[in-house]
Amino acid sequence: MNTATTITTTPFAEDVLEGLSGKEKHLSSKYFYDDNGSRIFMQIMKMAEYYPTGCEFEILSQQSDRILQQLPFANQEFNIVEFGCGDGMKTRHLLATFMAKGANFTYIPIDISQEAIDTLEKNVRAVLPDIDMQPQTGDYFEILNGLAQNSKPNLFLFLGGNIGNYRHEEAVNLLKKFNAGMHKGDMLLMGMDLKKNPRTIQKAYDDPHGITKAFNMNLLKRINDELDADIKLDQFDFYCDYNPKSGEVNSYLVSLKKQHFHSTVLNTTFYFEKDEMIWTELSQKYNPDDIKQLATETGLTVAHNFMDCRHYFTDSLWIK
Ligand code: AVI
Repeated sequence: MNTATTITTTPFAEDVLEGLSGKEKHLSSKYFYDDNGSRIFMQIMKMAEYYPTGCEFEILSQQSDRILQQLPFANQEFNIVEFGCGDGMKTRHLLATFMAKGANFTYIPIDISQEAIDTLEKNVRAVLPDIDMQPQTGDYFEILNGLAQNSKPNLFLFLGGNIGNYRHEEAVNLLKKFNAGMHKGDMLLMGMDLKKNPRTIQKAYDDPHGITKAFNMNLLKRINDELDADIKLDQFDFYCDYNPKSGEVNSYLVSLKKQHFHSTVLNTTFYFEKDEMIWTELSQKYNPDDIKQLATETGLTVAHNFMDCRHYFTDSLWIK
């Protein structure tokens, strides 16, 4: 590798340089989600093999009245604060049920993408024109600190199973930061994918359509496009593996031959051995004991696990 006159201008550039320079090569799954990657993720969510989306949809469309009953502050004014809200398609069932049951709340969706917030606002207002909604664009924690001044109780939503994409220490750090922004009695409803038949999990990630492969390969395409690199995409493959003991799905890009590529933006050449792997993603699966332990490490308590009928996925409700 030649890093003589490296110019690292963006976090993506810096992370690619760091991730592909060491012995254990890695690229962060947080870079999956540019416009193209977000479109591929929508296709993943529509695949029959990728069960989490349908499971969470079932939970929120069928059990939101029971979720409301579990909130100690259900009869007073409260906020529903959603982190990384996406397009709001699942959340709107929960919001609609809460409104139909007469709950008095302000919905505060937070996302870093203004485009995502605009789409969500349009989708939610189309079905719930009377909703009290105060969307916010920006960093979760800055907004959370601002909300800490607010005296109303809060229900925080972190849906979709995104917590599984954080390594254990990172997940604990993130949840401790959520905790720091919560008042006593505030609640967190978090989507978590459950341990189950290993074949079901393996198929959800190693899909026969090659869509998850395209999702991972998009990282290499981004390096070509944004860092002016000359990666030959057909010289890489995708591999993933579910370990039922640890509950981890780990995903990788695999170099099909000894090769190198050059990035003019990074002014660096990267070398790969044949069969060398680039680790791209962790998707952690949990059982109820793992969930209890994570909540305890974070200073929160599990109040209830809302599960779909097959017990594949839970929206886990925690209290401070
Ligand atoms: C966003 N996240 C919860 C997905 C998951 O299941 O880990 C991302 C994903 N990766 C491959 N397929 C879906």
